[in-house]
Amino acid sequence: MGWIEYWDDKPTIYVSQRHREAHYRCVAEGLITNLNGNDSVVLDYGCGEALHADRVARKCRRLYLCDAAPSVRAELRHRFAAVETIIVLAPEELSGLPESTVDLVVANSVAQYLPPDVLDACLNDWRRLLAPEGRLLLADIIPPSVGPLTDAAALLSFAWREGFAVAAVAGLVRTLFSDYRKVRATLGLQQYEADAMVAILSAKGLVSHRHHPNLGHNQARMAFLAVPADS
Ligand SMILES: C[S@@+](CC[C@H](N)C(=O)[O-])C[C@H]1O[C@@H](n2cnc3c(N)ncnc32)[C@H](O)[C@@H]1O
Repeated sequence: MGWIEYWDDKPTIYVSQRHREAHYRCVAEGLITNLNGNDSVVLDYGCGEALHADRVARKCRRLYLCDAAPSVRAELRHRFAAVETIIVLAPEELSGLPESTVDLVVANSVAQYLPPDVLDACLNDWRRLLAPEGRLLLADIIPPSVGPLTDAAALLSFAWREGFAVAAVAGLVRTLFSDYRKVRATLGLQQYEADAMVAILSAKGLVSHRHHPNLGHNQARMAFLAVPADS
């Protein structure tokens, strides 16, 4: 099984419904904070369930939700059928979008699941789509120093604030026996030092810097904001 099949199989990585809800609310709010005005065209790449994409869509002109997992896309199409400005796409459909027309590309918690050659191809797509003044927000990048223990501590702190601490403790115990742990042990996760990520982006003609805060709740992970070098 690869990571896309894993995500397509509707895994339960959230410790409770409250966690799932809080996670996607936090991501949507972070995304809205990073919009420049109400007229943006936004691509959320590897968007997952994007439970609150309708809130994001109300703050921009068009929102492309792109995910490689067919079951994730089917659910998104169903959930947001009534929102005309949300367009759900498979990664291979990005080539049909006109170049230089996206104001903000967001990829949150995705790069760790992409083999380096796939990340390379994604960066080519995103670079082609970015408007001259557009921005790429690459977030939740895991540095090599951050392992499962740091992630667990961040989850507990988030759970405490959001009122699902008991479920989080039970969920962390379940994780020890979960599919996610087995798939992670087999396929691994891609981790990047900050300098390495800046160099990867630079090789694609993107000037980037560390961006704070990271989009999700886990501030041990990193976000980068990148713009076309010729902008
Ligand atoms: C951890 S989830 C992140 C979801 C969401 N961005 C968030 O912040 O919660 C990773 C998502 O990336 C998607 N994904 C994995 N590989 C992908 C690829 N090569 N292209 C597009 N999406 C991919 C998975 O299907 C999954 O929905």
